[in-house]
Amino acid sequence: MSSTLHKNVTMALLIIVSVMPYNLSVDPCYNYTVLNDPRRSTNYSVDSLCDTGKWVGWYRLFLDVWSVRMPETCVDENKCGTTVPLWLRDGHPNVEDGVVSRNVCGHHLGNCCYFPPILIRVKACPDNYYVYEFVQTAVCNSAYCADVDSINKTYTNNTTVITTTEFRSSTATPMITTTGLIISLLTNCTGISCIQNLLDQIENITVLPLTDVTNLLDLVFNTSEKISNSSSGDPKKLVSEGIQVLKASEKLVSMLVKPTNTFDNVSFIRDSVEAQVFMVGPQVTLNKIPQLDTTHASMDIDLIGIAKNNNKTGSAAVAFMSFNTMENLLKAEFFNTSDDTSVKTMMSTVISATLPKTTNRQLTKPVNFTLKHIRELVSGGSVWCVYWNMTEWTVDGCCVLDTNSSYTVCSCVHLSTFALIMQTSSTPAEDDHLMEVLNLVAVSVGLVFNSLALLTFAFCRWKPGVNNVARINLCISLLSAHLLFFLTQHFLTHIRPLQVLCGVLSGFLHFLFLSCFVWMFIEAVLLYICVKNLSQISSRQRAVLSSRFLIVIGYVIALVVVGVSVGLVPDGYGSDECWIKVEKGFIWSFLGPVCVILAINSILFIRIIISLNSTLTKLNPEVSRMKQTKIMVFKTLAQFVVLGCPWILGFFTKDSKMMEILFLILNSQQGTFIFLIYCLLNNEVRQQYVKWMSALVPGLKSKTIKGAPKKR
Ligand SMILES: *[C@@H]1O[C@H](CO)[C@@H](O)[C@H](O)[C@H]1NC(C)=O
Ligand SMILES: *[C@@H]1O[C@H](CO)[C@@H](O)[C@H](O)[C@H]1NC(C)=O
Ligand SMILES: *[C@@H]1O[C@H](CO)[C@@H](O)[C@H](O)[C@H]1NC(C)=O
Ligand SMILES: *[C@@H]1O[C@H](CO)[C@@H](O)[C@H](O)[C@H]1NC(C)=O
Ligand SMILES: *[C@@H]1O[C@H](CO)[C@@H](O)[C@H](O)[C@H]1NC(C)=O
Ligand SMILES: *[C@@H]1O[C@H](CO)[C@@H](O)[C@H](O)[C@H]1NC(C)=O
Ligand SMILES: *[C@@H]1O[C@H](CO)[C@@H](O)[C@H](O)[C@H]1NC(C)=O
Ligand SMILES: *[C@@H]1O[C@H](CO)[C@@H](O)[C@H](O)[C@H]1NC(C)=O
Ligand SMILES: *[C@@H]1O[C@H](CO)[C@@H](O)[C@H](O)[C@H]1NC(C)=O
Ligand SMILES: *[C@@H]1O[C@H](CO)[C@@H](O)[C@H](O)[C@H]1NC(C)=O
Ligand SMILES: *[C@@H]1O[C@H](CO)[C@@H](O)[C@H](O)[C@H]1NC(C)=O
Ligand SMILES: *[C@@H]1O[C@H](CO)[C@@H](O)[C@H](O)[C@H]1NC(C)=O
Repeated sequence: MSSTLHKNVTMALLIIVSVMPYNLSVDPCYNYTVLNDPRRSTNYSVDSLCDTGKWVGWYRLFLDVWSVRMPETCVDENKCGTTVPLWLRDGHPNVEDGVVSRNVCGHHLGNCCYFPPILIRVKACPDNYYVYEFVQTAVCNSAYCADVDSINKTYTNNTTVITTTEFRSSTATPMITTTGLIISLLTNCTGISCIQNLLDQIENITVLPLTDVTNLLDLVFNTSEKISNSSSGDPKKLVSEGIQVLKASEKLVSMLVKPTNTFDNVSFIRDSVEAQVFMVGPQVTLNKIPQLDTTHASMDIDLIGIAKNNNKTGSAAVAFMSFNTMENLLKAEFFNTSDDTSVKTMMSTVISATLPKTTNRQLTKPVNFTLKHIRELVSGGSVWCVYWNMTEWTVDGCCVLDTNSSYTVCSCVHLSTFALIMQTSSTPAEDDHLMEVLNLVAVSVGLVFNSLALLTFAFCRWKPGVNNVARINLCISLLSAHLLFFLTQHFLTHIRPLQVLCGVLSGFLHFLFLSCFVWMFIEAVLLYICVKNLSQISSRQRAVLSSRFLIVIGYVIALVVVGVSVGLVPDGYGSDECWIKVEKGFIWSFLGPVCVILAINSILFIRIIISLNSTLTKLNPEVSRMKQTKIMVFKTLAQFVVLGCPWILGFFTKDSKMMEILFLILNSQQGTFIFLIYCLLNNEVRQQYVKWMSALVPGLKSKTIKGAPKKR
């Protein structure tokens, strides 16, 4: 019982953890300093070194090639190469505990915790190792120890072997650069820290010749390829490696920037990366710099304007890179959209633009990137210009300027790492096509009948006393809502980039659909009043509420709901489908009022039917007004079911194709149903139609009149 509970809690934690954005700088399991051969818990020779003052960040301990941990029990005095050996008093945490604080004690003068304990942070990592955030010790001659007994070679796992030996089995071959600089390369390095190690070594270098830069870049990409092959798709590892590769590349390419008076450029092409660097100096005479070009992407930037903004030096430089293999690390899946089921595909190489050695990096104009599609554009897929915000791909500040089948132009208001991602619905394309055709036909039919019903309500001669205001307005709302929805969906790819328009449209759709329901509600209320009047046999059957009042009510309620929604959640409108955003429960601003109206209407109908029944027993059922009212109630009830139910079905469309088709048909045919119920099934209207028809086609007259029922 409790173990199931525990499992469930762990599962829940895992889910939460995996849903969280990959924030690397806070996960020490993938960003630690390797501490090779720390002081062993069994080493008796005491040295005079202190562990004070040299700790920064997180550490993982290695003895020989094996990952080890701190001792959890008191270490003998004068072992561990120190007079005050430190051990972890509270024991190690479990993986699911995350980062925890633990007391560290020093054994001295026979007391296992002689000095006040030091608080350090510890984390258990998935591959059966621990990382520690050591802090400065208060007592000199105290040192953190490694538990030699914690080496468990049977408990190593292939992956663990790779991780623990990432440094130890690497052969460090020194690379001597053309300027005589020595950089030791870890040729077999496969771990996450390998590129960091290189970055640390080149930290203080500002200028390197092109050949050195390209050699080092090759090394970085060879290493990253090994890592992406061996990381078995762990997103955290991929992302952290991707960031390291980006950092290293940007740093290396920035070393190509040299001071110039006028202008200069450098470019190179390697298997994994292409780059163009353009620099301008104070005496530049160009009006604009040429387009920066790589095989799969090009970039327009107002570098001259940026240089002019750099008052002191008057110079600026831009580095533009196109990474051919980066999509394996910074995957398109790391683009989070509200539609989790959609498939995301990288449509361009990952590109990166920086302004190295430029003090004032303020952009004077948006930068424009022309990205060549590296894959076929799928019809129905939508393309997004995205940038890497260090945790995921996002669209902030970028938009699609122009797109055709083979190129897309993106415009961004900041520099960073960019890519083009295509989002396609996960349903197979063939199905989609069928649905599209079905949708087109169904919506067109619905719209035609809806218009016919509207025309009939507006132009037919109705008996005095028939209040058509609610019905006409219901038709108007329904017609506009369906038409607008249809048009929005049809031109989605063009509208979506225009975020404001998309938001406004979804707000307007919200309003229109809501007013349909409000009008349905008004109709039920009118009917209720009518039936009530009937039972009291009071002859005030003329509408109690004036038309003008009704119109105000009918639209103001919807307007108020939309207004409040905008006020409370301003960015709730404009989802990927230009509809209300489903996340954060904002969809309830629509479903809430709808449910309330459906509930009230149900109650009204029950009361109407009850009072009709009781009137029936009192009245002579042959009274024609009574009969008419019964028909009216039946029709309004039918309409309520027809207009209300599709939305309830809509809840289940995610789960089944059949439901989706049913929803589509029912929803699009609402206008048709109204036409059927109020026009075709109404004698009066039918007669009117016949009259019109015969006016148009004289021959028809005698035949159809005969067929028409005799009732008036
Ligand atoms: C790794 O940790 C150090 C400090 O311990 C921090 O400065 C650095 O930014 C981290 N690296 C990444 C990639 O988050
Ligand atoms: C013990 O520690 C000293 C100083 O830290 C070191 O030189 C020596 O190699 C260590 N001995 C063993 C067996 O690890
Ligand atoms: C190594 O770990 C495994 C699994 O936890 C355990 O069964 C085994 O006894 C350990 N061996 C040693 C020498 O500690
Ligand atoms: C071995 O490594 C894999 C991948 O990192 C991990 O899922 C698995 O739990 C590890 N097995 C053991 C026994 O540590
Ligand atoms: C890794 O696993 C494979 C298959 O399970 C095995 O053949 C190989 O010897 C293992 N390697 C190490 C270093 O344990
Ligand atoms: C390191 O690489 C060299 C060749 O580049 C290879 O001979 C050696 O076996 C590799 N070492 C390991 C531990 O993979
Ligand atoms: C880079 O410079 C800083 C400060 O001058 C220094 O602390 C650091 O050790 C240097 N790094 C390398 C790799 O030389
Ligand atoms: C990178 O890998 C390629 C082939 O995989 C190899 O030809 C090249 O020498 C490697 N470069 C470096 C610097 O290791
Ligand atoms: C990585 O995997 C790709 C294909 O999955 C392969 O072509 C490439 O040679 C592998 N690279 C290394 C270094 O194993
Ligand atoms: C990018 O395109 C936009 C819109 O066409 C334009 O206003 C801007 O000047 C362009 N930027 C550059 C650097 O050409
Ligand atoms: C550059 O100089 C202009 C006037 O010459 C001044 O308005 C502007 O603020 C200066 N910009 C910077 C970044 O110093
Ligand atoms: C990246 O964007 C996501 C969502 O927009 C946000 O949650 C996250 O904090 C951002 N990360 C950074 C480093 O800005």
